Amino acid sequence: MTTSTETGTALWPIALNPSDHGASDARRAEILADPGFGRYPSDNMVRATWTTDGGWQNARLEAYAPLTFDPATNFLHYGQAIFEGLKAYRHADGSIKTFRPLKNAARFAASARRLAMAEVPWELFLGSIEALVRQDRAWVPEGQEKSLYLRPFLLGTEVGLGVRPSNEYEFLLIASPAGAYFPRGVKPVSVWLSDDYVRAAPGGTGEAKCAGNYAASLLAQAEAATHGCDQVVWLDAIERRWIEEMGGMNLYFVFGTGDSARLVTPRLTGSLLPGITRESLLTVAESLGIRAEEGQISVDDWREGCASGEISEVFACGTAAVITPVGEVKSRTSGAWQVSGARTGPVTMQLRQALLDIQTGAEPDEHGWLHTIC
Ligand code: PLP
Ligand code: COI
Repeated sequence: MTTSTETGTALWPIALNPSDHGASDARRAEILADPGFGRYPSDNMVRATWTTDGGWQNARLEAYAPLTFDPATNFLHYGQAIFEGLKAYRHADGSIKTFRPLKNAARFAASARRLAMAEVPWELFLGSIEALVRQDRAWVPEGQEKSLYLRPFLLGTEVGLGVRPSNEYEFLLIASPAGAYFPRGVKPVSVWLSDDYVRAAPGGTGEAKCAGNYAASLLAQAEAATHGCDQVVWLDAIERRWIEEMGGMNLYFVFGTGDSARLVTPRLTGSLLPGITRESLLTVAESLGIRAEEGQISVDDWREGCASGEISEVFACGTAAVITPVGEVKSRTSGAWQVSGARTGPVTMQLRQALLDIQTGAEPDEHGWLHTIC
């Protein structure tokens, strides 16, 4: 049994039955040279089952392989499906670390509660990550923008067409090497304000990382694309006025410049996903001497702030893409405008580099955010 370095508590034991037909060294090297995002699985996966009678059981690492389910399985119809996303980084000394994995474990448990699913204990969540990353450590690429993306997910697997919380769950963890999430690199994205579709409403599932939230976002994302925009930006469901988040990322607004630069990120109202990158940046900004706070920003604030120059930069943040500048805004009801001539700003790049430096070990981990796996 392994012991978590963060808590001293024993992690959940994972039985090891690794793949005997993993990718060849040559094939893996080819993939790691240009991994893209989420295109190639590593050799193995972890899974565990929960039943009402037995709780969590049969946690095991085995070859990555297709899953089979009865056609009447709960999650296929009623969507009891949640997921997480985090990364493992290869440091210069050869060690492999993850960033704040217990935050993901806590959010995963909160998502499970909201969807009336069995919670995965953090010992099982982290034990699975440690087992898979150790086994597939050759899949963790080298290089500042590269990592092994980890995807834990949980499915309601009871068979039957009655609408009720499942009495059986399957927890899975897969991994996939990742390069830059946006293939064009760090270039400002254009965004479409979604006046007609909402992502999440008060009392809904906006703060849970459930599969259905992403399905519900795709039509608005497609609408953004038809208007020539890269991403959709969500507004609050009631007034359609307050900025919430961008696609799968949280947003930050930079007011002022230089020594007077001040960051504002939309406050968590229950309909935003509480991003771990977002939360970390509040702290990173403060340690760089940049004031950072949660607040409310309306569409009018955004447009007028860009016109007056008060808003100097806007960026989105999340695990997959780290930080991405927002350069242009378009909408059906509020017109179109640019943020500082659609150029990437200095605060955006400073924060991006500072966070990446912590994650990849180029700078000391003063906040104790890294979890060493091997
Ligand atoms: N918002 C949404 C809707 C997301 O899917 C994500 C990604 O997980 C984020 C924000 C950013 O969260 P994090 O920084 O924890 O990756
Ligand atoms: C993020 O990490 O920012 C994401 O939204 C992940 C995405 C692939 C769901």
